[in-house]
Amino acid sequence: FPSFSYRNGHLWAESVQLERIALEFGTPCYAYSRAALTTAYCEFDDAFAGRDHLVCYAVKANSNLGILNLLARLGSGFDIVSGGELQRVLKAGGDPQKIVFSGVGKQPAEMKAALEAGILCFNVESEAELHGLNRVAGEMGKVAPVSLRVNPDVDAKTHPYISTGLKENKFGIPFDEAEALYASAQALGNVRVAGLDCHIGSQLTELAPFIETCKKMLGLLDRLEAQGLEIEHLDLGGGLGIRYAGENPPSAREYVEALRSVVGNRRQKILIEPGRSLVGNAGVLLTTVEYLKPTPHRDFAIVDAAMNDLMRPALYKAYHEILPVVARNEMDAKTYQVVGPVCETGDFLGHDRHLALAQGDLLAVMSAGAYGMSMSSNYNARPRAAEVMIDGDRIHLIRERESVEQLMAGEKILP
Ligand code: LLP
Repeated sequence: FPSFSYRNGHLWAESVQLERIALEFGTPCYAYSRAALTTAYCEFDDAFAGRDHLVCYAVKANSNLGILNLLARLGSGFDIVSGGELQRVLKAGGDPQKIVFSGVGKQPAEMKAALEAGILCFNVESEAELHGLNRVAGEMGKVAPVSLRVNPDVDAKTHPYISTGLKENKFGIPFDEAEALYASAQALGNVRVAGLDCHIGSQLTELAPFIETCKKMLGLLDRLEAQGLEIEHLDLGGGLGIRYAGENPPSAREYVEALRSVVGNRRQKILIEPGRSLVGNAGVLLTTVEYLKPTPHRDFAIVDAAMNDLMRPALYKAYHEILPVVARNEMDAKTYQVVGPVCETGDFLGHDRHLALAQGDLLAVMSAGAYGMSMSSNYNARPRAAEVMIDGDRIHLIRERESVEQLMAGEKILP
């Protein structure tokens, strides 16, 4: 975790000792490192140097305005999947001309908002959506730029819930139907073919599926160009994995270099849609040990963060490293089940963790920057955590802790 490290037994991010955050803002709290975020973005962007490209951050990974704004300032584009994400990107100062809109269920109102904003491209996922978009654009007197998201039927070899590029998945247009649909898109009056798109899954730790996909896409690109279509960009999706524990994913540089060498000197601009690899290891979830609860069978550490704050362990059995913010003597370590206060057995952050703990200790759940806060909920009427951005020795609050009043704000009781 490049921006998080121990000094004299204390866990730091940049020039901030993490205890300071808990003291000032309480727990649970998500803490991100601006340096880590910047480094991650620049690694992708620099690897593309000398080639026409656009890094479109997948907003779903973490849609905090503070994060979107920092990426926008670095020149990033954005991959959105809803009208809500569109509004966030615009509010954060993102350039509409650098937005691509993905997702299988775009609604007419969302299409309209995106057309009004003047986004770069709609990644269309079905024939019905293509016709819907053509109609909405027609009503507005506009022409919608489109890519078809094709499903290359490549096994991403990742968790089945986050694998999207197999023919049995709901995503994309079946590979063999793509050419015919492109031909019919060309005949529509209010869409304009701009690109070709794919995305095969998330948390990929090998290059091979990306390379195989890229080759398939180039084959399709050749056939489309032979039909006389002008494809301006090739969107290769997101999915590069990060290290949570033992994984050894390719670096952003290795990944981009691999894509570049397959694509060669084709004239198309290359787009990618990384989410996790930009923010995942730039963030941690800070939580306090509320109680230690030894039982005859297992020792529990009950912490103040729960599955509603970080759903990944409960949902995917995902592994997140859990580190003490102030290290204690290893000799006192025991094997703990690190669990939250939510009333479900699935509410855990980590099983069988070797830790030396006392009540009141602060823990950092690592690699929590992606799909942490963005997937959080209010289950058990738990207000959502605060979020802070560390920048050098400064701590900026980028989202206040939610209040119970906010949770109930839209609710009414019967007269
Ligand atoms: N583009 C599209 C069309 C996507 O569907 C996704 C992620 C991305 C880009 C970004 O993928 P990334 O670079 O982050 O792997 N909640 C799950 C991950 C779901 C990913 C959904 N799509 C998790 O916590 O692991």
